[in-house]
Amino acid sequence: MVQVEKSFVHNMFSIEGKVAIVTGATGALGSAVAVAYGFQGAKVVLTGRNKNKLAQLAQWMKDQGCECAYIAGDPANEEDVKKIVKFTADTYGEVNILAVCHGFNAPKSIVEQSVEEWKKIMDADCTSIYLLAKHVAEQMIAQGKGGKMVITSSARSKAGMAGYTGYCTAKGGVDLMVQSLACDLTAKYGINVNSINPTVFRSELTEWMFDPESEVYKNFLKRLPVGRLGEPRDFVGLATFLASPASDFLTGGNYDATGGYWAC
Ligand SMILES: NC(=O)c1ccc[n+]([C@@H]2O[C@H](COP(=O)([O-])OP(=O)(O)OC[C@H]3O[C@@H](n4cnc5c(N)ncnc54)[C@H](OP(=O)(O)O)[C@@H]3O)[C@@H](O)[C@H]2O)c1
Repeated sequence: MVQVEKSFVHNMFSIEGKVAIVTGATGALGSAVAVAYGFQGAKVVLTGRNKNKLAQLAQWMKDQGCECAYIAGDPANEEDVKKIVKFTADTYGEVNILAVCHGFNAPKSIVEQSVEEWKKIMDADCTSIYLLAKHVAEQMIAQGKGGKMVITSSARSKAGMAGYTGYCTAKGGVDLMVQSLACDLTAKYGINVNSINPTVFRSELTEWMFDPESEVYKNFLKRLPVGRLGEPRDFVGLATFLASPASDFLTGGNYDATGGYWAC
């Protein structure tokens, strides 16, 4: 007899009623994830460093009928991270999903980059995720109901690039952190930890790459079987899947969101 219940299949992608923290919530990918989670009935706590932008997005989401709240904070600051987790638990009673969508890069050759800038990249892209995972894990363990962590890494975690020593190193660290966190947290506490590894998605910073006349665009398309660069909406399916019961058997994975970049 097949052991797949109808009710499981009907609800396996549902995150309705779950409480999600979304970092980098005002960015291109973070806002897409926050809005997508909100439209699916999750209670969303938006966070990032820019309070005005958070307030604007929260108001827009509320106008759309989403349940959300916001709190400003720097994810690389441990006291801020503690406040974000506490605010979420105080506001909605628990934390079920952590979606990490913030990030920073300052592309520069190692011979031109200062050690201070290297540290800033490592703090923003790596240490911040350690702090979020640590304090959210503590909260989820206390709740005793498991949870999901969906961490935005990059395709640049798997290959180096000129000017990207800090960024590639930090993102490579994120992928291994995700694997190690899975070993610590999944079997024992039911907390699944996975990363999404995108190539180029449209954002304020990458908009210039979408010029069809540019060499960068033409070169990228040679390696993209899907035939185009990513739009934020292309990101939300995987971000939902990894937050939902459909991905209960997946942990410690680094999932490609590249339009097939590694295929050719
Ligand atoms: N878009 C792409 O093509 C692409 C490709 C590969 C990987 N990624 C990764 O995807 C994630 C989201 O990128 P995105 O395209 O959505 O970028 P984005 O639109 O520039 O948004 C980045 C977000 O991160 C926050 N942020 C910026 N600098 C920060 C810092 N120093 N410390 C902490 N937070 C900071 C910003 O919010 P506040 O200023 O309010 O804090 C912003 O909301 C990042 O991890 C990025 O590395 C993006």
